[in-house]
Amino acid sequence: MNQVKVFAPATIANVACGFDVLGLALDYPGDEVVVKKTDSHEVVITACHNAENLPLDADKNVAGVAIKALLNKLGSKQGFELELTKGVKPGSGIGSSAASSAAAVVAVNELLGNPFTRKELVEFAMEGEKCATGVAHADNVAPSICGGFTLVRSYDPLDVIKIDSPDELWATVIHPQLEVKTRDARRVLKGGIDLSKAITQWGNVGGLVAGLYSKDYDLIGRSLVDVVIEPIRSILIPGYEKVKKATINAGALGCSISGSGPSIFGLSRGEETALKVKEAMAEVYTQFGVDFEIHVSQVNSEGAKIIGE
Ligand code: HSE
Repeated sequence: MNQVKVFAPATIANVACGFDVLGLALDYPGDEVVVKKTDSHEVVITACHNAENLPLDADKNVAGVAIKALLNKLGSKQGFELELTKGVKPGSGIGSSAASSAAAVVAVNELLGNPFTRKELVEFAMEGEKCATGVAHADNVAPSICGGFTLVRSYDPLDVIKIDSPDELWATVIHPQLEVKTRDARRVLKGGIDLSKAITQWGNVGGLVAGLYSKDYDLIGRSLVDVVIEPIRSILIPGYEKVKKATINAGALGCSISGSGPSIFGLSRGEETALKVKEAMAEVYTQFGVDFEIHVSQVNSEGAKIIGE
């Protein structure tokens, strides 16, 4: 096989309480890459459709950086050509850079005969995140590559755990058409964390994981609380409190910022409620006169997938 086409999905990182450690994959949108082996020893990015301002230089484009990290680990000099089609808007808060990095490493791994497991690919895609945001966080790339809900139990050494989640769990994500760079959204966070807030936060992370495994929707809802990051970042998102209130009133289990924003997500039990949440979120931004996109999706248990040659 000399060429492969891969789709990697958008993701919701943090999932309220799990800053940099929790994430989940959506069914859509996603990025697509077509990667082919070449006889040169170079990684070349030929096009970046739908986001022409992203760099084509493989040392500056997250997909190129992720592929090079993988090749370095193998000590391989194989050359590749990559064409990227962005389905996830940069700066949306649903893992745009992660979807590109994830698709790229899954494609190259496939063309090399799968020397790495899906979990092992996460560390290479993290190099793409480092290039985009300054920090090699894994909470978007892990679910995009592995699918489902993921927990980064440890960064050193990297320990990614895929968590079972109940079938009726749906996500509704609204993206007000503004761009927030993750790099900037991380700068506004203070270095330290108050002990009483930490206690609340790690109680909720444990509660959310327990709720997912035991399919206890009330516990999931009670645990979707972020007392550390949301109070700071929500100020950057117009209408945040109104959207959150409307989301909860429409029946969602919980609501918070998706990744570094400006997207806002709600988790619901069942599609019907997720669609009511969609209406409620849309109404707020329609009244505000802010353009938006909304995605309604189950948790995508598969993650990145080969979709052709
Ligand atoms: N955990 C990262 C952050 C996710 O919140 O900065 C970025 O999508």
